Amino acid sequence: MSNSGKQHNTKTTSGAQQTIEELLKDYYENYKRVIAGGSEAAVALHRSRGKLTARERIDALLDKDSPFLELSALAAAGQYNDQFPSAGIVSGIGKVQGRYVVIVANDATVKGGTYIRETIRKHIRAQEIAIDNHLPAIYLVDSGGIFLPEQSRVFPDKDDFGRIFSNQARISAMGIPQVAVVMGSCTAGGAYIPAMSDESIIVKNQGTIFIGGPPLVKAATGEEVTDEELGGGDVHARISGVVDHLADDDLHALKICRNIVSGFHPSQPQMINRIEGREPLLPSRGLHKLAVNESGTLIDHAAVIEHIVDGGEFQPFKQEYAKTLITGFARINGYQVGIVANNGVVFGETSRKGAHFVQLCNFRKTPIIFLHDVTGFIVGKKYEHDGIARDGAKWIHAVSTSAVPLISVVTGGSYGAGNYAMAGRAFDPRFLFMWPNARIGVMGGDQAARVLTQLKKAKGKNGADLEAKSEEQLYKEIKARYDYESSAMYSTSRIWDDGIIDPANTRTVLSMVLDIVTQRQWPEFKPGVYRM
Ligand code: COA
Repeated sequence: MSNSGKQHNTKTTSGAQQTIEELLKDYYENYKRVIAGGSEAAVALHRSRGKLTARERIDALLDKDSPFLELSALAAAGQYNDQFPSAGIVSGIGKVQGRYVVIVANDATVKGGTYIRETIRKHIRAQEIAIDNHLPAIYLVDSGGIFLPEQSRVFPDKDDFGRIFSNQARISAMGIPQVAVVMGSCTAGGAYIPAMSDESIIVKNQGTIFIGGPPLVKAATGEEVTDEELGGGDVHARISGVVDHLADDDLHALKICRNIVSGFHPSQPQMINRIEGREPLLPSRGLHKLAVNESGTLIDHAAVIEHIVDGGEFQPFKQEYAKTLITGFARINGYQVGIVANNGVVFGETSRKGAHFVQLCNFRKTPIIFLHDVTGFIVGKKYEHDGIARDGAKWIHAVSTSAVPLISVVTGGSYGAGNYAMAGRAFDPRFLFMWPNARIGVMGGDQAARVLTQLKKAKGKNGADLEAKSEEQLYKEIKARYDYESSAMYSTSRIWDDGIIDPANTRTVLSMVLDIVTQRQWPEFKPGVYRM
């Protein structure tokens, strides 16, 4: 199936009533659509130029039969009338010459590989992953630069297009290798991708690099020049020195890139507690039954843990205390991990247990996996008087200053400050994945609709904002909007996460992520002041 590029294909329902089977079907249909890239005509034109597609290039670069952890495949889905499959860029992590690397590949079949806001977010996120885990970065470049109609949303601000290049300099200064393979256009700012890489390759008669293309040159100076004369492979390999290697075609360029990676200094992994891995006792498909999509029903995290850990063996910590949080140790593919999983609303003692356990894992150099299904912190006079804010702060503090890798999987809801305590995106987990039924937001749809309806009513009584709509109508509208905006599809489209995963793949993804986060040595744990 290919994307016509004109239809609005992504299901944008709130997912409120859908079963996990329906949600998975939507997910896989959308995935199949986006991996086809741009329109059939654009893909045919791309191939007629002797080019491989972005995903084929990645396959050819990776070690044979080695897996690729693709990130945010459904970025931009349901936005821009679905004209930007995967936001026009493929990013992820895989092995080249036995070494984990981050790969970023422009998809020139999607609007000439140009950058919208989500394209930039994906590119920058891939660079963050390179920095956090000290992974070499490889850029397979084929892009017309900024998607011009969106310039005000992608150019001026701190984390806009320019951040990609400033990151390149910082990554280089950290001693993390970067290689650019120019396989198509590299226009305007995009020219800095190869220029700021440690080493770059260009495909002859195909790759071009210029700060301003021929039409701009003509307009600015009247000079008439072809693409190739201005900034083709021959120019940059022989005359300007902007690239270091001239390749005959895509496959040759990727072979040169593999040779370059084989010469990198080896990674300096973290010393960790790891033994031979064992399969869980329960089949991974059982996780589909546990991925319930009903508001008010808790995810059975004890059962989830049993399905994903080695031998189904879990050593609980503080099992009898603060039972709305499950904490304990287990192994995933032989790696010793700490697990923090919600089992209800967060009380003061839940927070103290969370803070204690997170601190313990930091002192034991044990990575932590967070399984989110949390409605937030308990509210009410008694709890405020008991200092719930103080207890919550301890837990959030421990998470924020953690030196060990934090890995988040949102299996149910991740709401309010519960999201903070469970290592939501703002707390820099090394990775964050969503199940298709997962939700993220300041509060649930029902709760938000009740709160906002109450506020409107109170205002109405003062005569300030007499609400014409009935209370019920208002409630329904607010709830529908909250449900829609908190869905996994909405989140992943905006790159608030690293991607939606099939619950049955949770262990496989975690195993690979544990391999990745142990590629570098972790810093020392330095806690701040805990409010006691
Ligand atoms: N902004 C917005 N749209 C762009 C674009 C840009 N910078 N570059 C290309 N597009 C669009 C085209 O309008 C076309 O859209 P359509 O599919 O709706 O018709 C689509 O992307 C493909 O472009 P096209 O020129 O047909 O494909 P191509 O493969 O022959 O060439 C480029 C691709 C990138 C080499 C060429 O489009 C180009 O040079 N673009 C201008 C690049 C530029 O000057 N960028 C400066 C911004 S930093």
